[in-house]
Amino acid sequence: MDLYEYQARDLFEKYEVPVLAGIVADTPEEVKAAAEKLGGVVVVKAQVKTGGRGKAGGVKVAKNPDEAYEAAKSILGLDIKGHVVKRVMVAAGARIAREFYFSVLLDRSNRSYLSLCSVEGGMEIEQLAVEKPEALARVEVNPLTGIDAAKALEIARAANFDEELAPKVAEVFVKLYDVYKGEGATLVEVNPLVQTEEGDVIALDGKVTLDDNASEVRHPEHEELADKATENPLEAKAKESGLNYVKLDGQVGIIGNGAGLVMSTLDVVAYAGENHGGVKPANFLDIGGGANAQVMASGLDVILGDEQVKSVFVNVFGGITSCVAVAEGIVKALEILGDTATKPLVVRLDGNQVDEGRSILTAANHPLVTLAATMDEGADKAAELANA
Ligand SMILES: Nc1ncnc2c1ncn2[C@@H]1O[C@H](COP(=O)(O)OP(=O)(O)O)[C@@H](O)[C@H]1O
Ligand SMILES: [Mg+2]
Repeated sequence: MDLYEYQARDLFEKYEVPVLAGIVADTPEEVKAAAEKLGGVVVVKAQVKTGGRGKAGGVKVAKNPDEAYEAAKSILGLDIKGHVVKRVMVAAGARIAREFYFSVLLDRSNRSYLSLCSVEGGMEIEQLAVEKPEALARVEVNPLTGIDAAKALEIARAANFDEELAPKVAEVFVKLYDVYKGEGATLVEVNPLVQTEEGDVIALDGKVTLDDNASEVRHPEHEELADKATENPLEAKAKESGLNYVKLDGQVGIIGNGAGLVMSTLDVVAYAGENHGGVKPANFLDIGGGANAQVMASGLDVILGDEQVKSVFVNVFGGITSCVAVAEGIVKALEILGDTATKPLVVRLDGNQVDEGRSILTAANHPLVTLAATMDEGADKAAELANA
């Protein structure tokens, strides 16, 4: 989960990373009040989960509360790379002398952590990496030892900070690593980290990506940071039911058990779709091992809630869960859903107790359900029904 800048700022504060005062506001009136409260020069900053806000007109300096009010009027509602600004942060204004860049992130390909750092901050890092790769230090960070004082100094020196500034920024790097480690993040980025005219080192912008796998177990409090309003409602519903669901763009809803089977089902459906007007899979939904009636009902409920879905292909291989349980699950799920189930369902069962499972579905004789003998046949039928 990516955090908003103001949420990153709050986490930074918790770990004693130097930040400036900031107040979030949703209307120009609130912005004016916040500017009055902070006093002096403030910066009104769009809160959207994308970079380059400054260049897009989403960061504006205001010398007094009236200017802050006007800035808010121009920023709220602004579209920045497809993200509409609904909230801003009013931050105390810094007198910037120099801008630097620092980040620490999970380096998956090297199974390690990586720190990127530059004395030339402010501009977008992708641009810096391309145009002046020599100005961007890349220092591997051992996950077992992290960024301690010595490592932080190594990073600062690699980035060409002078001897006076290096220990000052290094102190901040250690605290930013504390955020990374302490919160279970996969990215902590500060751009810019600044030195002010007064000589202080301050994080002026923050981007934090939390590892959802860590959040689930170690940080239940992260739940509160999720922005329910921008989450896909179907994905949110699936998450509540503990289902692995990913929305895709096609017309054939897919339910399977096990990630491998679901992924190959996506391929087979896409392939079959070529013969049926180019229909494609509408989602990825893995109901996992325990395919009981409730799980099946939740899964179907999520998929049928997707307006793009025209047909559903249930492709289950009975292993520990027998086909009897799955078949009973489908029958009960259709009972639970009643009139809300309106789209045709193609079911392919195989494996443990397959004959008994199929008999249950045949006996139920539900008008929406078609049985398929093989995966290819099922995919073809589901694609045909989606195209009808
Ligand atoms: N509190 C602040 N005081 C003074 N200048 C700021 C402040 N916050 C941001 N800026 C300036 O605005 C620029 C862009 O802001 P930033 O928060 O980095 O947004 P983005 O990276 O999305 O463009 C910064 O590089 C900095 O020069
Ligand atoms: Mg920035």
